[in-house]
Amino acid sequence: MKRITALATAVVLVGSLAACGGKAGTGATGGGLPKVGVTIYKFDDNFMSFVRRAIETSAKDRAELILNDSQNDQSKQNEQVEMMISKGVKALAINLVDPQAAPAIISKAQAANLPVVFFNKEPDAAVLQSYDKTWYVGTASAEAGVIQGNIVADAWKANPNFDRNGDGKLQYVLLKGEPGHPDAEARTKFAVDTIREAGIDVEELELQTGMWDTVKGKELMDAWIAKHGDKIEFVLANNDGMALGAVQSLKANGYFTNDKYLPVVGVDAIPDALDQIKNGLMLGTVLNDAKNQGTAATDLAINAALGKDPLEGTAWKLDENKAVRVPYVAITKDNLAVAEEAYK
Ligand code: BGC
Ligand code: CA
Repeated sequence: MKRITALATAVVLVGSLAACGGKAGTGATGGGLPKVGVTIYKFDDNFMSFVRRAIETSAKDRAELILNDSQNDQSKQNEQVEMMISKGVKALAINLVDPQAAPAIISKAQAANLPVVFFNKEPDAAVLQSYDKTWYVGTASAEAGVIQGNIVADAWKANPNFDRNGDGKLQYVLLKGEPGHPDAEARTKFAVDTIREAGIDVEELELQTGMWDTVKGKELMDAWIAKHGDKIEFVLANNDGMALGAVQSLKANGYFTNDKYLPVVGVDAIPDALDQIKNGLMLGTVLNDAKNQGTAATDLAINAALGKDPLEGTAWKLDENKAVRVPYVAITKDNLAVAEEAYK
């Protein structure tokens, strides 16, 4: 746990260094701040609202932002990009609606000779390589699955009573994020693989998409409890939004009173999930660092808007796929403070 805490602290330091060191100054656009065009795939996404806030905070006094809600509609986003280009933005920071739509955005940017920083929804590696002025800011998606799988495996081994029917197998239901989203695909695969690799037999009772959404998470969990009742032994959710929906459903179905308990894990570590961990209604989550991802996307976009190297004056690092990957961190009741910092 010590090592994890130190790592998280280092990342936070990196973030704030970047925020100071990356100060854009003035002059590049004839005395004003550089104009940067930003899209968020939909404002009505819990995690993205924290990334958006980090972008706004980090761009303060360094860039003039044009910020768009793409309302989960890729054709709307394409129009927003055209509109921003016509308004003279010097760089684009794009949270795609559809991860497969990156080539369409790149061709618009390329025609106007503009740099593009994608964030949160990762385009294919080949697409990122197709244009020299494009980069990605996000995470290593698989890492969240591995960390979540380890939280589950450790808890399973420490709590023999989690095997409610005593058959030696872990019966789980899984709330998946948006199909085709690299985070959803990798978290699903690596969480389950990691539990298996820890030597635990698993049985999947249900796996369906809740589209990252709390209401959908609750509806699915309601249906699964009605269908499987006490047979469910673990709830794995690709994000906290859906995990919170599952907790609501479990509460409404009499769980978390009179020793009736079901372990629930998520990803993100948003404040509402941390509250549930504190209250014992969620077992754990995985910090998806909204603050550092928002800050890194802003730093790269501002540098690129000024015609500088995207990393200039920052401590971010690019991997071989031209991606900045902010690390995930396991969060349980023992280290909630680490996550609180990333969502301040
Ligand atoms: C987050 C989800 C969010 C999604 C949006 C993921 O990285 O974990 O909570 O809904 O990104 O693209
Ligand atoms: Ca069992």
